[in-house]
Amino acid sequence: MICYIEIYGCQMNVHDGEILSGILQSAGHTVVKDVHAAEAVFVVTCAVREHAETRALGRITHLAGIPEKRPVMVLCGCVAQEHGEKLLKKIKLLDLVVGPDVYHLLPELLQERRRIAVTDQGSEDYEQVTAVREQFPRSFVTVMRGCNNYCTYCIVPRVRGRERSRQAELILKEVKSLVEEGYREVTLLGQNVNSYSSDGVRFPELLQRVSDTAGDSCRVRFVTSNPRDLTEKLARVMSSRENICNQFHLPAQSGNDRVLKAMNRGYTRHSYLEKVAMLREMMPDIVVSTDMIAGFPGETTEEFEDSVSLLEEVRYDYAFLFRYSERTGTAALNIEPSVPVKERLRRLSILQELQTGITLEKSKQTIGRKMTVLVTGPAKRAGQTASRTMGNRLVILETQNYSPGELVPVEIVKADGYTHFGEPCS
Ligand code: SAH
Ligand code: SF4
Ligand code: F3S
Repeated sequence: MICYIEIYGCQMNVHDGEILSGILQSAGHTVVKDVHAAEAVFVVTCAVREHAETRALGRITHLAGIPEKRPVMVLCGCVAQEHGEKLLKKIKLLDLVVGPDVYHLLPELLQERRRIAVTDQGSEDYEQVTAVREQFPRSFVTVMRGCNNYCTYCIVPRVRGRERSRQAELILKEVKSLVEEGYREVTLLGQNVNSYSSDGVRFPELLQRVSDTAGDSCRVRFVTSNPRDLTEKLARVMSSRENICNQFHLPAQSGNDRVLKAMNRGYTRHSYLEKVAMLREMMPDIVVSTDMIAGFPGETTEEFEDSVSLLEEVRYDYAFLFRYSERTGTAALNIEPSVPVKERLRRLSILQELQTGITLEKSKQTIGRKMTVLVTGPAKRAGQTASRTMGNRLVILETQNYSPGELVPVEIVKADGYTHFGEPCS
C-alpha cells in the first residue's frame, strides 16, 4: 500500500513515526510524502494538551478527503492510546486505532481489514525494526519509554505506561551503526532519561558510553530530564566530554514551592536553582531551557509571580510556555478552585512577553562569538543553509554551498531570538 504519515507531539512521537515507517516499509509498503497518492493515512497524535488532541483529530477528516479513493484511516500515538475503542465509535472515518506500543502489529492489521482498536501497553517489540530516519545528519535513539513520575497535570504516564529502559548494549549498537552511516548527531530520548536503569547501568554511565561510541564525529544530546533526578554525576559526564552538547532542557513548570508540591514535581525552587547554578558553573556556555505552566489549579496570583520571577532569575535561553489544560484521569483535575481560562491566558501572556525579551537578549549575546555549527540542510528561504550550534541554536548561513553533516566554523553576526546568522570564519 502507499502510505502517508503525519506526526504531532514530542520528539518521542516523531521517532516513533520513524519506527512506524520502518515497520511499514519492511512489510513491503511504500511511505510517501504526498497525501494525494495515499491508500493508507496514519496520524500519529499527541494528547498532552487539549489543543494538541483537537488539532490531531481535526486532521483525520481533512486528510481522508484528499486522495481520490478514500484511504484506510489509521489513528496512532497517544490519543489512540487514551481513547482506544471509543474513537472508532465516535469517528466513523477511522478504520484502525493503534497505540504507540503496538505498531509492529500494523502490517497484519492492515491486511485483516477489520475496524479495530489495539492499545496493549508495554508490549512494544521494536528491537528488530530499522527506523526510517528523516532528519539526516541528526538522529533520535529511544533509551526508555513511559514515565513513573505522575506529575499531577500530566497524561503521559497514562498514555505511555510505566517506565521501561532499553538494554544498554542495544542502544550502543544502534548508536554505532548510526555513526557508521555518517550521522553527526544523536539525541537520546525518554520522558525522563534520568530514570534510565538497565542491568545496573544508570543514565550517567549510559551517556558516557554513548559518548565514547559516538566518538569525535558525532554530537550527543538528550531529552528530557526531571530536575529532581539531575545529579552532579551527570553534569560531570557532560562537562568532561567534548561531544556532549552544552545544552540542558530542565523543565521547571512553576517557580513556587506550594505549586511544585501540588504538581508532585519532587523539587523546590531552591533545589532547582542550585542545579541550574551547578550546570552553569561546570559548563559556562550551557544553553538552558525550560517548560512552564500558567494557571495550574489553585495557583494564586502571588504564586504565579514566583514563576515570573523564576524566569527573571534564571534567564533561560528558551522557554516553552503553556497554559494549564485539563486532562482526563490526572490528579490535578480534583484540585479546586481551578483558574479561569481567561486568567490562565492572561498569565501565559505575561510569561511570554517577559521571555521573548530574555530570549532576544540571550540570543544577541552570541553576536561576535565564534562557534562550529553542524549543517542540517537547506533553510526555509531559498539560497540559505540551516545549521545548529552545540547549544542547539539555529544558525542560518547565507549561501547554499554546504551539505548536511558538514561542520562549519562561523562567527555570529546577527541574532533575533530564535534565528542567528553566521559568517564562515577560520
Ligand atoms: N517528560 C517531559 C514532559 C513531557 S510533556 C518532562 O517531564 O519534561 C511536555 C510539557 O508539556 C511539560 O513539560 C509541561 O510543561 C507541558 N504539559 C504537560 N501536561 C500539561 C497540561 N495538562 N497542561 C499544560 N501543559 C502541560
Ligand atoms: Fe509528565 Fe512529569 Fe512524566 Fe514529564 S516527568 S512525562 S511531566 S509525568
Ligand atoms: Fe504528546 Fe505523547 Fe509525547 S502525549 S508529548 S506525544 S508522549
